[in-house]
Amino acid sequence: MLINIFPDNDELHRAVSKEIIQLVKTKPDSVLGLSTGSSPVDTYALLVDDYKKNKTDYSSIVTFNLDEYVGLDAHHDQSYRHFMNFHLFNHLNIPADQTHVPLGTGDLDNNCQEYEALIQEAGGIDLQLLGIGTNGHIGFNEPGTSFESRTHVAPLLKDTIEANSRFFETSEEVPTKAVTMGIKTIMEARKIILLAYGSHKAAAVRDMVNGEVSEDLPASILQKHEHVALFLDEEAASLLQ
Ligand code: F6R
Repeated sequence: MLINIFPDNDELHRAVSKEIIQLVKTKPDSVLGLSTGSSPVDTYALLVDDYKKNKTDYSSIVTFNLDEYVGLDAHHDQSYRHFMNFHLFNHLNIPADQTHVPLGTGDLDNNCQEYEALIQEAGGIDLQLLGIGTNGHIGFNEPGTSFESRTHVAPLLKDTIEANSRFFETSEEVPTKAVTMGIKTIMEARKIILLAYGSHKAAAVRDMVNGEVSEDLPASILQKHEHVALFLDEEAASLLQ
């Protein structure tokens, strides 16, 4: 694991956005794996700034998002499809049909199989962006998820539901399931960048890097990936040995 620690978040997001822009320029038909949540928001803003200033070309880029809530369609303002359109896709010259977010409505098992097939057809993911949950989840693969898992319907744990409830008016509205890429799907990406900042992520980051590789902490599997780069602030890195 390559560990990059930044004194401030601005530099961290600049560094991550630089990596993405460089890949898009050197391989204009790259397949990007993207994440939602608060971690990548400022990175996406920098990609949008760069696009406005430099016209970096996304016309041949293909994207696959990690996950989507079950029961929320693209029109729901808390759906991850809406999040991605709002923060990134609407501002770049990427054709909408080249952006993929798992479908959280309809025949979910079928959606999962089709998602895996689409990733394969696209040639696999060149660069996967990840955040990490305070319980060590990646995507919505909660502790206990098999390392062999592929895109599937996953129940969200109480902690995750609580962490997400800040985006919903009442806790009853927070979805309790998600469609998520599996851990095996994530591990097949050729390169992985994981972003984490804040002291609330420190224990999960420590266990991911220094802990035993165990399904109890899904992100620990990243120790086995050959091209993982962590982009951390000093607080998230504060418990690393
Ligand atoms: C989001 C995702 C999640 C988040 C994680 C961290 O697509 O798959 O694993 O990356 O929950 O969330 P934030 O960034 O909000 O702390």
